[in-house]
Amino acid sequence: MRISHSAAALITTNSLLACVSGYSFEQSTYTNESEVPFYGLSPPVYPTPEGNGKSSLAWAAAYVKAREFVAQLDLEEKVNLTVGYQTSVCHGHTGSVPRLGFGGLCFEDGPSGIRGQDFVSAFPAGSHLAATWDKNLMYAYGKAIAEEEKGKGVNVILGPVGGPAGRVTRGGRVWEGPGPDPYLIGIQLGQLVTGIQDNGVIACSKHWLFNEQEYRRLPTINYGEAMSSNVDDLTMHELYAWPFMNALRAGSGAVMCSYQRANNSYSCQNSKLMNGVLKTELGFEGFVVSDWGGQQSGVASANAGLDVVMPWFGWWQNLTTMVTNGSVSIERLDDMATRQMASYYFLKQDEKYPDLSISPYNVQHPIIDVRDNHSQLIREIGAAGTVLVKNTNKTLPLKASTARFVSIFGYDAEVKAEAWEDPTRYGGGYDVNWGWNTFNGTLITGGGSGSNSPPYVVSPFQAIQQRVVANKGMLRWDFFSGNPTVEASTQVCLVFINSYSSESFDRLSLTDEFSDNLVNNVATNCSNTVVVLHAAGTRLVESWIDNENVTAVIYAGLPGQEAGSSLVDILFGDVTPSGKLSHTVARKEEDYGEVLNSTIDYSAFPQSNFTEGVYIDYRAFDRNGTVPRFEFGFGLSYTTFTYSNISIVQRDNVSVAEYPSKNISIVQGGHPELWDVLFEISAVITNTGEVAGAEVAQLYLGIPTAPVRQLRGFDKVMVQPEEAATALFEVTRRDLSTWDVVAQEWKLQKANYTVSIGASSRDLRLNSTIVL
Ligand code: BGC
Repeated sequence: MRISHSAAALITTNSLLACVSGYSFEQSTYTNESEVPFYGLSPPVYPTPEGNGKSSLAWAAAYVKAREFVAQLDLEEKVNLTVGYQTSVCHGHTGSVPRLGFGGLCFEDGPSGIRGQDFVSAFPAGSHLAATWDKNLMYAYGKAIAEEEKGKGVNVILGPVGGPAGRVTRGGRVWEGPGPDPYLIGIQLGQLVTGIQDNGVIACSKHWLFNEQEYRRLPTINYGEAMSSNVDDLTMHELYAWPFMNALRAGSGAVMCSYQRANNSYSCQNSKLMNGVLKTELGFEGFVVSDWGGQQSGVASANAGLDVVMPWFGWWQNLTTMVTNGSVSIERLDDMATRQMASYYFLKQDEKYPDLSISPYNVQHPIIDVRDNHSQLIREIGAAGTVLVKNTNKTLPLKASTARFVSIFGYDAEVKAEAWEDPTRYGGGYDVNWGWNTFNGTLITGGGSGSNSPPYVVSPFQAIQQRVVANKGMLRWDFFSGNPTVEASTQVCLVFINSYSSESFDRLSLTDEFSDNLVNNVATNCSNTVVVLHAAGTRLVESWIDNENVTAVIYAGLPGQEAGSSLVDILFGDVTPSGKLSHTVARKEEDYGEVLNSTIDYSAFPQSNFTEGVYIDYRAFDRNGTVPRFEFGFGLSYTTFTYSNISIVQRDNVSVAEYPSKNISIVQGGHPELWDVLFEISAVITNTGEVAGAEVAQLYLGIPTAPVRQLRGFDKVMVQPEEAATALFEVTRRDLSTWDVVAQEWKLQKANYTVSIGASSRDLRLNSTIVL
């Protein structure tokens, strides 16, 4: 079924009427599948549940304080709290209440470091972090970015990113988050939120929900409304909302609603998504803030569950009128203000929070250096998220003897030397909004709000040169030619290429001719060509991967400011590679099917139907029998591992029933029993090679009626040569459940579940079964 434009308009109108007249719907269940709303239809869910702090003692205490605070405010002050102002200091700043000593909340981007500031760090992108598959590093990253934001007095980090999930392979923002697997995104989101909030900063998990492409993400005067992502109920739960459950479970104090429409109702006025799923089903206690300029209505958004509008666009000035004339209740307004203050108290920001010290770049200001020793962590994550995918005859690691004469090619090897005239560009071509674009030098991050502000960049050329100097070797280089001269005595040619991507547009290709020609041209004259690829998203390699002179290939991701140091750690074997791909690399672009490109629709009410359901990335490749070039979860090491001794133990203190029990109070993150660990699964990983290395052991479950296998656990273990370590996977009720659209509940099935443990989604070494 394809929804017609008139139907789309009708739904929006119905939602509006429903809230204007105060018509109220409960979260419903259905008696059969035909009653379940099809994608394209967003059922109205009203009123907004009031936040109440029942999730934990800490939330309860925060709510007591928040209510006391809000009780002292007059109407204008309450309204003022719900509005964000974009200032030259904060990207968004909510209204203050000076007489009560509350200065408002300062919001800043973002997910990989503070944007547009000096003496802050440029962390690797979210996709790079995901490629580490390392929960400890995810936590440490969250803690470190929060230390920096807090050090500058920022209250709310606009991150982490849990969506785009990466449905659209060429989507412009896929690199900001972990990639197309909900389980991996969920773990990363949970760890980041915990790391951020353990350090006292409010995490704002974004974007809620279905913001999977940049094309027509916002309405325009010329074309019409924004794209509608039409997603069925099961897919919403099992794929797109899933990771946010982890973020909420970890306590996320804020959530950002997204730009586009969701089932034909703007996300920031979508009562099903905010009142229904987020605040009822998932028990969200914090506040929802609009993406910047993402609020498209007044009454409708207020009653659908939006709590804070960013930034001031005029709509919200009418909130006082809306409350006075009854179209928005005073209880709703109180709830908006209370939710915001509850997050503030939940994070204890009322107790000695640093003063705000964010400054515009063109105003002289004292140095506030918040970087601490984060460069070490950045370097470690940079190396841990570097993925080795080809290594013929042990080309890598390089040694002093095999790399005495090194040649370096490609603009991606060095920070661009040319100065830019644009004053907002600094650091050799870096732009506060756009990062570096393709021809601007080595790619350390992508563009847009997910970008960051490097205090310096250690380029690959700089770091390699340093190593070559130490080894008493020599270098030749050419950063610009597409067909450079290779000196006959060169022992190894390092070719650097990249693939840029940014917020606000989607990519047109997963390859580029200049770079592919460069690799082939060098390889023609150099029998030991090593390719290093920095990429914001998926980058295909078919035109040269089988070239026998291409002896090693490294996906170096988006590593942040220590790019060169991290790379040298891997190239010279100081660190054994352990990164694994967090997305599938296909042999050809068409293999991604319909979701290769963003949906293009020129109509006034554009529609993007997510008809593939949960079948994106490896789920689709597995179902279709498509052979990828490099599968999800793949990555090589300098050592080898064997897998043995699979063990499955049922936790005897939890009941395994079909549904989670009724009459249990929902807490933030959803039904608490979904998080019960039902099974502990483990395997022994033995290092059979010669060097120490870490292995990411992955657990895949074959859940009946779902894709043939889905990631449901991973454990990264460090193992010394000839030693063994145990990889442990805790499998929760949710991990084994599917979403029952009729009952509107997660449900286990009385069936056999296949259990596979392996080194990637296709290199499955151990198999067993769980019988429920
Ligand atoms: C992005 C958000 C970002 C906000 C503020 C928007 O364009 O979609 O992710 O946090 O801008 O910069």
